[in-house]
Amino acid sequence: MRIAVFSTQPYDAKFLEQASAGAHDLMFFGARLTPETALLAAGSNAVCAFVNDDLGEKVISVLSDAGVKLIALRSAGFNHVDLLAAEAAGICVARVPAYSPHAVAEHTLALILTLNRKTHRAYNRVREGNFALDGLLGFDLHGKTVGVVGTGQIGEVVVRILTGFGCHVLAHDPNENPACGAMGARYVSLDELFASSDVITLQCPLTPATRHLINATAVARMKRGVMLINTSRGAVVDTRALIDGLKSGAIGSVGLDVYEEEADLFFQDLSGSGIPDDVFARLLTFPNVLITGHQGFFTEEALTAIAETTIANISTFERDGTPLHPVRSAPDA
Ligand code: NAI
Repeated sequence: MRIAVFSTQPYDAKFLEQASAGAHDLMFFGARLTPETALLAAGSNAVCAFVNDDLGEKVISVLSDAGVKLIALRSAGFNHVDLLAAEAAGICVARVPAYSPHAVAEHTLALILTLNRKTHRAYNRVREGNFALDGLLGFDLHGKTVGVVGTGQIGEVVVRILTGFGCHVLAHDPNENPACGAMGARYVSLDELFASSDVITLQCPLTPATRHLINATAVARMKRGVMLINTSRGAVVDTRALIDGLKSGAIGSVGLDVYEEEADLFFQDLSGSGIPDDVFARLLTFPNVLITGHQGFFTEEALTAIAETTIANISTFERDGTPLHPVRSAPDA
């Protein structure tokens, strides 16, 4: 099959070529999929897209006119796809439901540990010959209460790692995961989780119910000085409420791998042109904020699994008319 691959980075091309082994005709485009670039897919049977590609109604209409029959996502999340529009246009959508929950869970812990022990600041200090410790004070993670919002595949691994650290884990999820209960996590209401947690980490998908789950009201319910981590999707957090919480001291520190307006920022080098987003720029001014550019998934194991499942989705669709992991328009919860 001929596939137009959007938002291609060098590593995407490498892993997809390896997984395809010549079975498919892969056309790589660095451009994001938008209404303006969608016509690049003309002549292709499928498009392969990533998290910040636009798969709204307008793009789907252009893809449909261009003869595209399959949207193969290189991601687990599919909140950026208008599934109803795709269904109406007769376009199948496929995703990679699981690749490495460890990749994102371990990155979540990297954010927690770095923010707490300030190793990012210590690294710079020591390189400048500054060995003063003032300002680097952390706390023992052992014995702290950590709230995990969303205990699916990634949340479960986060719970496992946290219990290894000796944390008390509170969990919130409309679908309780018995494995987390067995590890000692206690399922509580969101209010109790907010009120009792020293660290809160978000591992839920972006859905209408979770959009701005962390807003000013939620921040007001949290323990003063809470550490908040988001490695799920940016729009689960209302960034302005986050900034207000940081300014007032209600929030003690923030670790983000995702940002609600990340589409125009992440996965590109803006070091020569500056940051066009004032809200994001404000976040960067806080010494107690640590941001990575959506790299939670970025491990060798995860990229291999993403490429292999993506190619398997395409091959199965070519053979049977339906991908291995179809996404349908039921709510993602
Ligand atoms: P999953 O589907 O296995 O688990 C999600 C869990 O969230 C489910 O148990 C679900 O019941 C729960 N949930 C749904 N609505 C909720 C709500 N209102 N409150 C609390 N929990 C709720 O998904 P998985 O694989 O664990 O991934 C979670 C999310 O992580 C993805 O949807 C994606 O947005 C994000 N992600 C981020 C990556 C990164 O690179 N930073 C990479 C991969 C995924």
